[in-house]
Amino acid sequence: MSSSVSLLCFCIPAVLLLVYSTSSVASTNGENETDRVALLGFKAKITHDPLGIMASWNRSVHFCGWYGVTCGRRHQRVTELNLSSLNLVGSISPHIGNLSFLRHLNLANNIFGGEIPMEICGLRRLERLILRNMSITGKIPLPLANLSSLEVLTAAIYIPIKLI
Ligand SMILES: *[C@@H]1O[C@H](CO)[C@@H](O)[C@H](O)[C@H]1NC(C)=O
Ligand SMILES: *[C@@H]1O[C@H](CO)[C@@H](O)[C@H](O)[C@H]1NC(C)=O
Ligand SMILES: *[C@@H]1O[C@H](CO)[C@@H](O)[C@H](O)[C@H]1NC(C)=O
Ligand SMILES: *[C@@H]1O[C@H](CO)[C@@H](O)[C@H](O)[C@H]1NC(C)=O
Ligand SMILES: *[C@@H]1O[C@H](CO)[C@@H](O)[C@H](O)[C@H]1NC(C)=O
Ligand SMILES: *[C@@H]1O[C@H](CO)[C@@H](O)[C@H](O)[C@H]1NC(C)=O
Repeated sequence: MSSSVSLLCFCIPAVLLLVYSTSSVASTNGENETDRVALLGFKAKITHDPLGIMASWNRSVHFCGWYGVTCGRRHQRVTELNLSSLNLVGSISPHIGNLSFLRHLNLANNIFGGEIPMEICGLRRLERLILRNMSITGKIPLPLANLSSLEVLTAAIYIPIKLI
């Protein structure tokens, strides 16, 4: 009860910011650029990619075909991002918060240092957040921190969270 109340309080500003910041994105050639820009922002924070996975995230392929990306069938918006166990090194870009249709996020077994960006709170549809074994060193956004301890967060198989 108390955790859902605090989620509500802390996530509303993030949602408003999200709506505001994505509303001006223009679409070229009929597709929504918001998710592509967000994914490229995420990619930009990967500093080491020994398996060369991120090379598939390029212009010659629609982002729905990029490795680890799953889109909804009807609207071509990213609903899942699964990059587990790819030995990626980097940090989690705040751009993740612009993937507004994201339901599942799995970044387990990589080395993402730094903090989990507060922008994750703006992902209203997020159901599953898998951040196991990730070497997160920085602080956790307060609404998430209140759901479980840092230890639980990094060790859990998944954390069901409900935003708004
Ligand atoms: C976390 O929960 C505690 C107890 O319910 C509450 O006092 C505190 O304000 C909450 N903090 C945040 C950041 O939600
Ligand atoms: C793209 O998506 C954003 C965020 O969901 C939305 O605000 C915008 O209207 C969309 N643009 C087009 C052209 O569909
Ligand atoms: C772009 O990605 C595709 C797979 O998605 C890959 O086959 C191709 O080699 C990549 N192109 C470059 C320039 O990396
Ligand atoms: C994510 O990817 C891993 C490794 O490819 C796979 O084992 C797992 O089933 C995937 N999880 C989801 C939810 O797709
Ligand atoms: C996406 O997120 C970033 C970082 O949070 C922000 O600077 C940007 O304005 C957002 N909107 C778009 C459309 O990229
Ligand atoms: C944790 O992730 C690293 C890669 O970053 C991997 O080598 C290691 O096997 C993982 N450990 C567990 C317990 O899954």
